[in-house]
Amino acid sequence: MEKKLKRIGVLTSGGDAPGMNAAVRAVVRTALSHGIECVGIRRGWNGLINGDFGMLGGSDVGHILSRGGTILFTARSEEFLTEEGRKKAVGTCKLLGMDAIVAIGGDGTFRGALELSRLGIPVVGIPATIDNDLGCSNYTIGFDTACNTAIDAIDKLRDTMQSHERCSVVEVMGRNAGFLALYVGIAVGATAVLVPERDYDFERDVVLPLQQARLTGNTHFMVVVAEGAGRAFYIGSQIKDELGVDPRVTVLGHIQRGGSPTARDREMASRMGYTAVTALANGDYNCVVGTRSGGIVTTPIEEALQMKKSLQMDRYAVLEAMQNRILR
Ligand code: F6P
Repeated sequence: MEKKLKRIGVLTSGGDAPGMNAAVRAVVRTALSHGIECVGIRRGWNGLINGDFGMLGGSDVGHILSRGGTILFTARSEEFLTEEGRKKAVGTCKLLGMDAIVAIGGDGTFRGALELSRLGIPVVGIPATIDNDLGCSNYTIGFDTACNTAIDAIDKLRDTMQSHERCSVVEVMGRNAGFLALYVGIAVGATAVLVPERDYDFERDVVLPLQQARLTGNTHFMVVVAEGAGRAFYIGSQIKDELGVDPRVTVLGHIQRGGSPTARDREMASRMGYTAVTALANGDYNCVVGTRSGGIVTTPIEEALQMKKSLQMDRYAVLEAMQNRILR
């Protein structure tokens, strides 16, 4: 970008994630420190299409660092998938004199950002999703808070499961990704964890671990299921039919998307927001920010969207080793 930036827009899009507000705050305050004005676009790409916005000053983003959700609201925009919708969005950028857009969200958000960049609007993406499933970044804002929310709930479930000597089946979020399930499973000492990345075999992945846990003297069991791996209620009924235990099923649902962000999410969101605006100010745009090799880097959007992150299946070995049984 040859000319100096005067004004940028910031939006949050897709599923919300704790720490999005911290990222918005970081974008606004870093922009102001460079003498760049900031426009808050409401309701994701829809806000850009409909001209739904408000100027954001430094104090407008005061006291949001610790708040879950997003003050800018969020949405998954159908209209932005159309050429007409995107043209309207470009029109709004021009009308408001926005030199660039910072888009905070997941892969759907980044696909939208790529389309906008192709229409000549410079963009930078910041990864935020509780699924932690973006290939371009080892870490996505919101993952740590969601893990801690799930762990807190499962620890409580364990108390009552232990008292009644029951089996608990807990469904955590993750339609296409098992990062949350596997990480949480290790952190709560789950008996079994089912993830979408691996087709589950009921005998191998549920019956066997439960039977082995019984043999080592366990009288309560914790099965963690990612929503994309199978429905918890169905798995609960399978357990009842096959093992004769009557599990209690809990779907944690959207509770995992809320709550005050953890230290990790606040710190990460602040650094990523800072890096996004610094990149723009230095003429590095049409890229996404991400963590790799211990630092924060930028990757061209197109390349970022091609990058895949696989679930580290070797974590299952850790899970199994914690089961207090002799492996032969
Ligand atoms: O992408 C984050 C996520 O929370 C997924 O884990 C979940 O499957 C999905 O969003 C649910 O989204 P919503 O209820 O907003 O449609």
